[in-house]
Amino acid sequence: MKAVFGFSILLALTGCTTSNTSNRVESLLNQMTLREKIGQMNQYSVGPELTGPEGAQNDRYSQFENGEVGSAINLIGHKDIRKLQELVVEKSRLGIPLVFAHDVIHGYKTIFPIPLAESCSWDLQAIEKSARIAAKEAAADGQNWTFAPMVDISRDPRWGRVMEGAGEDPYWGSLVAAARVRGFQGEDLSDPLTLASCAKHFAGYGFAESGKDYNSALIGRNDLRNFVLPPFKSANNANTATFMNSFNDIDGVPATGNKWLVNDVLRKEWMFDGVLVSDWNSVGELVNHGVVKDRAEASALALKAGTDMDMEGANFIDNLEGLVLNGSLPESLIDDAVRRILHLKQNLGLLDDPYRYLDSKREQEIVMHSQHLEASLDMARKSIVLLKNENALLPLKDVSSVAVIGPLAKDKDAPIGSWRAQGKSNSAVSFHEGLVNKLGNKVQIAYAEGCKLSIGPNNFLNKLKIEQEDRSGFPGALAVAKKSDVVFMVLGEPAFMSGEARSRSDIGLPGLQLELLQEVYKVNENIVLVLMNGRPLCIPWEEGNIPAILETWHLGSRAGDAIADVIVGDYNPSGKLTMSFPRSEGQIPIYYNYRNTGRPENDNDLVFYQHHMDVDRTPLFPFGHGLSYTTFDYSNLAVRTMDNELEITVDVANTGERQGEEVVMLYVRDKVASVSRPVLELKGVRKILVDPGGQKTVKFALTKEDLSFYNVLEEFVFEPGAFEISVGTSSTDLLTETVQFN
Ligand code: GLC
Repeated sequence: MKAVFGFSILLALTGCTTSNTSNRVESLLNQMTLREKIGQMNQYSVGPELTGPEGAQNDRYSQFENGEVGSAINLIGHKDIRKLQELVVEKSRLGIPLVFAHDVIHGYKTIFPIPLAESCSWDLQAIEKSARIAAKEAAADGQNWTFAPMVDISRDPRWGRVMEGAGEDPYWGSLVAAARVRGFQGEDLSDPLTLASCAKHFAGYGFAESGKDYNSALIGRNDLRNFVLPPFKSANNANTATFMNSFNDIDGVPATGNKWLVNDVLRKEWMFDGVLVSDWNSVGELVNHGVVKDRAEASALALKAGTDMDMEGANFIDNLEGLVLNGSLPESLIDDAVRRILHLKQNLGLLDDPYRYLDSKREQEIVMHSQHLEASLDMARKSIVLLKNENALLPLKDVSSVAVIGPLAKDKDAPIGSWRAQGKSNSAVSFHEGLVNKLGNKVQIAYAEGCKLSIGPNNFLNKLKIEQEDRSGFPGALAVAKKSDVVFMVLGEPAFMSGEARSRSDIGLPGLQLELLQEVYKVNENIVLVLMNGRPLCIPWEEGNIPAILETWHLGSRAGDAIADVIVGDYNPSGKLTMSFPRSEGQIPIYYNYRNTGRPENDNDLVFYQHHMDVDRTPLFPFGHGLSYTTFDYSNLAVRTMDNELEITVDVANTGERQGEEVVMLYVRDKVASVSRPVLELKGVRKILVDPGGQKTVKFALTKEDLSFYNVLEEFVFEPGAFEISVGTSSTDLLTETVQFN
């Protein structure tokens, strides 16, 4: 405690008062040696969990003691965090505390649905609450900073990291980004139950060519401005404390060394003055990109391009001091970065009390609280998307026996998903457990695994081995299928088949699962396909033959209970897709907000129009698709042009037998503009609850700003003219009116 006392004396001597953080930070900065300053810009991954390639090889322990490390990531548990914090605060000359970070993406110990699943709930309050709970648990365990929300727009389900985002649409992606920032950061960053958020990966990572992780992103400025950057801008407007670089280059310029992207857009245009942290050694990897010759040049380029902190590369700590001393770099650039880092620590309350997040009693009270598990169940129910339901096979009724088949039927790990922070392996409620909990005493439930799925270690770092040969489980599966009224086939991807470095060239059901499904279908066609996956899948045979398909993603700790609630009808599914499902990989990228082009695709037989000869031009399941156990009818779309806005109303009737929630979507099309605009753009969403036989009038308003876009000069402009205004239940089922808006 001596050093902490010493630390506060030091602050007192420098006349620092907590009331004026900039004076306090300035006084601290003025006492730091050049090496101590650079130390604040140095971040290491500590503890057993690596989230990237092998860490920097250097003598780290002494660097912590010497105040040459500013942040530690992946250290888990308030006991170990306290030990390292005490070492730094008590041993280093100025005792400046570390800031601790971890990837808290969809829960900390209570695991929520993966972010892509949550985005399909179209429930911003629930999404914000999910982040709030994740932050409470992580902060109670000593973390200060999460590397989330990931706000990368992507149209390529081959890319494994689509599981971390909110899908293909910038409008919805922007609303979700802000909700997650609010959830993580709460009202006050110094509250020991909040986390600093981090908008990542800036920028364009989701456009990696061929969906191959870390690949180049070929994005024109117009697409960057109108599709990729809006969620980052929204996170900034929600006051995210930090941003993170992305690994990719954009048209040949790596994001980590992209002065235009960071200094011009992020810092000057958006006036972001928080911390920009690199991704895992993305500074050092500038050498691999071939834009610098060595790590010293890489450090100089990254610093000049606005990167404040060097994650797991020891590039800054090894190189910046020499560059300043030999006159290649002004120390003022270092000061700017360190100022931002010290402000972050000040805002987190760490300069006041380096141990404020380290309270074992709070940790015991908060982590895995029953209310958190209930919230996870609620979010899971809302994230499920009913893709198909022929002859209303669901909700289950009048059955005496069911079969539960598939390698994921009893699997308790897949629902925890990738990027699981401290979620325990094999800790989810499995599908089978959920169904037995719900129906066990009313219906006979027979089980067969059918086939294995991943046969190697299923973890964050190892390549997956998928079973391709062993069909010995097939006969057992056919036997239980034959004697059951309904068959639940629980198939999909293991947790670590999506996430970072998990790109797939073939996104069908992996391994022997489709073959197993086809064999079972031969003996019993009454099948409900329950998908557990981290990305949209190519499932054309399944869509063409299986009567009911439930997309359950990786739903978190209470997965099985949520799915069972939907299956028996205790919860009427309300989820809708935020990412298109392609019919084949050859269609990728396929997305709803495409441009018309000069030869728009159409249904005529003439050849000279956009199309693939061998596949239908539409996605298998479009953006916004999701069925309910009831039906809704849209009527009376009216668009009134006021001076400065359009007023839109539509009636939505529940024409079915039961209450249901409906996500009402508003789209626009700017018919003629200075750049070709998408054929459809989501511009409004309302989630409403309607009783059977009831009707609600839904209202939207659109301003000129809502209809503005970035033109070729990168000016954000409204261009008067004709607009198609559409409202409906998905991107392909709409009522449309055309108006003139000047
Ligand atoms: C990884 C990821 C990034 C994550 C970081 C720390 O490589 O790209 O999203 O936050 O390293 O784990």
